[in-house]
Amino acid sequence: MKNDLFIRAAFSQPTERPPVWMMRQAGRFMKEYWDIKNRYSFLEMCKTPEIAADVTMLPVDLLGVDAAILFSDILVTAEAMGGQLSFEQGVGPRFANPVRNRADAEALQVDVVDKLQYVAGAIQVIQQRLQGRIPLIGFAGAPFTVLSYLVEGGSSKDFKRTKLLLHNEPELAHMILQKIADVTVDYLNMQIAAGVNALQLFDSWALALAWDDYKRFAHHYNAYIFSKLAREGVPVISFCKGSSVFAPIMAEAGPDVVSVDWNADLRMVKDSLPQGMAVQGNLDPFVLYADKRVIKERILHLFDGMRGQNGFIFNLGHGIMPDIPFDNVKYAIEVVKEFSY
Ligand code: CP3
Repeated sequence: MKNDLFIRAAFSQPTERPPVWMMRQAGRFMKEYWDIKNRYSFLEMCKTPEIAADVTMLPVDLLGVDAAILFSDILVTAEAMGGQLSFEQGVGPRFANPVRNRADAEALQVDVVDKLQYVAGAIQVIQQRLQGRIPLIGFAGAPFTVLSYLVEGGSSKDFKRTKLLLHNEPELAHMILQKIADVTVDYLNMQIAAGVNALQLFDSWALALAWDDYKRFAHHYNAYIFSKLAREGVPVISFCKGSSVFAPIMAEAGPDVVSVDWNADLRMVKDSLPQGMAVQGNLDPFVLYADKRVIKERILHLFDGMRGQNGFIFNLGHGIMPDIPFDNVKYAIEVVKEFSY
């Protein structure tokens, strides 16, 4: 690997500067993304290895990030399990057949890794194009977050149906979560076999949960997944919105890296984690709308707090928004790359 800053930081080894990549780095804030998106549907893009590779490479070539992330979506596992998934412009993901009762839950399939082979295909094409320049991050959605989309039938503000399921029918919730967890283990091990260099588990909506519910319905399954991965040499990142609260339990699940949202003081989180566990984060993505002077100030301030620390990957606290100016994203990456410890 020519540039292994990201891998070293993820394993808490010394680096000359923090590595940088950004969640949603291959997306709608780029004109070049729209040039492709205007010709295909989002799912077609995910399912055609050459196109998924083209999109994955955009931020590698145009932004100079230190890691690539596979172009796909967290909901492809739920689709493979039987969810009728569509992405509508301005609406986001929709499942036409939400999971609302025991029969729906029983109908969810678990032996589905064959249906996800297009992802292995994409990983192989991307690795041919990367030629060992930088690592490739694979990913999946965490069981609780995927469950929430299956139950709500799409995005939700309050996760009302999901919480009702957890509270009124915990056994049924556990049955579905275990199915998703088993699919996720197979899927992530398939990604490792296909050649990804790191993995991130996205539990985007865990912040909706109370502490005990997080433990029972999110943490338990994430820990199960981490324990079943062939992770030798492949660092694993645990992301959730809510990590500023849940970081101590996230650490117990045993990832290599905890990815932190922007509410938390990154150094405080780092100091609270076990020795040798790295942090990723945590610039407020809204800072990237601001003047370049502010962007630089905020990044350098973040770095000040992390001075002398191994195990720090620079990222945003959540994904890049579609209307953030491309120039500002590029500038932020330059600021990181000019820095040295
Ligand atoms: O980070 C990357 O650049 C890699 C690709 C990636 C996408 N989705 C592409 C995408 C990744 C890692 C994801 C993960 C994902 N998908 C998450 C977890 C990360 C997070 O944001 O918390 C979640 C919750 C989803 C589900 C999802 N997919 C939603 C809610 C939406 C629509 C809403 C939105 O943000 O626009 C998507 C669609 C989606 N996934 C797009 C992209 C580029 C937009 C598709 C389009 O062009 O319309």
